[in-house]
Amino acid sequence: MPENAVVSDERTRVDWTEWQRRWDDQQTGYLPHREARFEAMFDVLAEVLPEDFVALDLAGGPGSLGRRLLARFPAATCVSVDFDPVLLEIGRQSSTDLGDRLRFVDADISRPDLLDLLGLDQVDAVLSSTALHWLPPHALVALYGRMGTLLRPGGILLNADNIPFGRERGRFQEMAEARRARHAVAAFGADMVSGWRAFWEAAEAEPALAAVSAERNRRFADLDRSHAEPILALHLAALSDAGFGAVEVVWQEFDDRVIAAIR
Ligand SMILES: C[S@@+](CC[C@H](N)C(=O)[O-])C[C@H]1O[C@@H](n2cnc3c(N)ncnc32)[C@H](O)[C@@H]1O
Repeated sequence: MPENAVVSDERTRVDWTEWQRRWDDQQTGYLPHREARFEAMFDVLAEVLPEDFVALDLAGGPGSLGRRLLARFPAATCVSVDFDPVLLEIGRQSSTDLGDRLRFVDADISRPDLLDLLGLDQVDAVLSSTALHWLPPHALVALYGRMGTLLRPGGILLNADNIPFGRERGRFQEMAEARRARHAVAAFGADMVSGWRAFWEAAEAEPALAAVSAERNRRFADLDRSHAEPILALHLAALSDAGFGAVEVVWQEFDDRVIAAIR
């Protein structure tokens, strides 16, 4: 049997919805209010956009946000971009019911040629959840600049993430981190990274994900995440500088926030 046929056979055997659920479960362990945060983002979209909008989800992983968005807005479409081949595979395989409404793009969102790779002329909404803290400050600033170009006037950017308080508010940051640690211990026990680790160990052990796991290991081998995460003031200033008129935190739980910026 050709190798491709074996891979395709493995794929049909797998319960991809269950993989999507596993991803959501471990993310929710770290972020117990994750669903409320998605809802807050969608409430903002409902206020500012018509029903048939086009959204871009930056670093969308397996498409958790996209699936929820399309359920809430049946006339919308979404492009979800990420550079993790395992999460892209889970996203693609678990979203076949959505057809073209949810499209996955394999790309590094910090690349200068991101707009060319996306192949989108214009979008109505740019969204992101639990992801942009992966970017160093200079890459975040450049990304916001590119999104200011891609979004149509009147469109909206919503970034949901743990966005640190600045140094002058360090006491609040300590509180936020202590609270986050309590949530993770409640979900996973004293070894707080076990939820994340268990997901990735299971993915490595899944034969249908063997090829994409190998590709992930190759891509992530030299990934440098030693940078300081961009603080709130930097996000707000970078968005203003990128041409966004109204920039505000519209939802917040300690340092977990949704920033909204209208183009
Ligand atoms: C914690 S996950 C969140 C995924 C998804 N947004 C969610 O809320 O479930 C962070 C995601 O950011 C992606 N990511 C980080 N840096 C990226 C980059 N430079 N380009 C594309 N994706 C990136 C990772 O691959 C991962 O899928």
